[in-house]
Amino acid sequence: MKDYENLLLEVKEGILVLTINRPHSLNALNDGVFKDLIHFFHHDIENYTPKGIVITGAGEKSFIAGADIKEFLDLDSEAARNLSQRGHDLFNHIENLPVPVVAAVNGFALGGGCELAMACHLRVAGAHAKFGQPEVNLGIVPGYGGTQRLPRLIGRGKALELLMTGDMITAEEALNLGLVNVVVESGSEVQAAIAMINKILKKAPLAIKAIISTVNDQYNSEKDGFLSEINSFDHLAETEDFIEGVHAFLEKRKPEWKGR
Ligand code: COA
Repeated sequence: MKDYENLLLEVKEGILVLTINRPHSLNALNDGVFKDLIHFFHHDIENYTPKGIVITGAGEKSFIAGADIKEFLDLDSEAARNLSQRGHDLFNHIENLPVPVVAAVNGFALGGGCELAMACHLRVAGAHAKFGQPEVNLGIVPGYGGTQRLPRLIGRGKALELLMTGDMITAEEALNLGLVNVVVESGSEVQAAIAMINKILKKAPLAIKAIISTVNDQYNSEKDGFLSEINSFDHLAETEDFIEGVHAFLEKRKPEWKGR
């Protein structure tokens, strides 16, 4: 376990709450935040073995206000490509984690912040949260998956509108578009995200893992999502949990999952 300059880590009932901690810059994703996140997700996460993860931002104003624009000042083409690739690698990794990952959006989720929230499996928004992809105002496009994940979540037409206008939308609008799963009272985002994960954790863990990977396979050009579903169905049919689930239903009792 390591102390991070830009992250706070706290485990609550087996669920890890990861807070991006640069409130003076509205939690903008600078090089330091990226290095910390990469180290955490690749080298430290096993020390926590979380059953679920909540990602949020420090302070009451912002989840993440995007990439750190100050670092764009001397960005050449090669550095830009590396920056974008690094963001893609990290966000893909988060999207493919085998445990539920929920963004607790406690304010501005702009640019890379909206992109990180979209890479999470689910999104809980505080009533005052704001979403947007304002990169067009800087003369660039989103670089961490926004042009791909936004249309997948809300459809091509509305995504093109938000990407081309750079408009910010409210939590309520994001809910209506399907960009967020639920809107809660401001200040209760993390608590609501933990409650959502706890609800999921009552279900069969191997099935949850398979749901994440088969749904993700739909968007992976190297995979056949339908085939992945057949494979998962086949594989899960042989697990103790499936036998337990069926017996529990027929015996009118709650199942006891073993994760086997
Ligand atoms: N990168 C670097 N610093 C940022 C930042 C970003 N993406 N977003 C906010 N900050 C900094 C501001 O520079 C300011 O720092 P300062 O106090 O040293 O001047 C501080 O965070 C507070 O932001 P401020 O703009 O004063 O707050 P506000 O309430 O007036 O506006 C926003 C909030 C989010 C609307 C505004 O900060 C903004 O538009 N940020 C950029 C969003 C963006 O374009 N993100 C995509 C980047 S690709």
